[in-house]
Amino acid sequence: MSNERKTHWEKIYAEKSPQQVSWTQSEPSTSLELIKAAQLPLDAPIIDVGGGESHLVDHLLQLGYSDISVLDISKNALERCQDRLGKAADKVEWIVADITQFQPIRSYALWHDRAVFHFLTQKEDRAAYKRLVSNYVSHSLILSTFSLSGPLKCSGLPIQQYDATSLASLFAPQLELIHHKEEIHQTPFNTTQAFIYTYFTPKRS
Ligand SMILES: C[S@@+](CC[C@H](N)C(=O)[O-])C[C@H]1O[C@@H](n2cnc3c(N)ncnc32)[C@H](O)[C@@H]1O
Repeated sequence: MSNERKTHWEKIYAEKSPQQVSWTQSEPSTSLELIKAAQLPLDAPIIDVGGGESHLVDHLLQLGYSDISVLDISKNALERCQDRLGKAADKVEWIVADITQFQPIRSYALWHDRAVFHFLTQKEDRAAYKRLVSNYVSHSLILSTFSLSGPLKCSGLPIQQYDATSLASLFAPQLELIHHKEEIHQTPFNTTQAFIYTYFTPKRS
């Protein structure tokens, strides 16, 4: 695990409240809309990569999904999420890992990532991520990043901006871009950030 990366994120979640970080959403509406559109059975394995303190897991549990994993590089983030959920946290698999070094032991029907992949500014990290989604996503990949009109940094770290074309070519030929959508995110401090949401499926050969 990259120590610098982990130290950065542990510090963020030790020091900042959800109202003090730009990515907080009161409701992850677009993610939920895309997840529902995937029409998966409720026992399908779903992973939220870099889930942090997102409320997505709360909504998925409420909707009745029963095989949910949340992965994050920050143990603090996952503990805060677990505290919020209380007993319901026992129904979730919590994975502390740097996604670039994650070694899954099974496939996921649906892989969700909002605002994590864009931190991978090194080619080899993107290649590791592509290997993972190519080999361990069986039905849907929902990936959301800052768009070309979004910020150049997040949480003080440089990010890579994307549009639908650049993401589609990055994940081709193993995954096929089916749908994309732009969204303006309203941060807790009343600024805006332009995101792109993409929905991929594995390409059948
Ligand atoms: C901008 S936040 C987004 C959090 C969440 N996805 C959301 O939409 O609210 C980025 C998250 O990715 C996590 N993260 C950053 N780099 C990571 C990596 N290499 N592996 C796993 N998690 C990472 C951070 O700890 C943080 O929780």
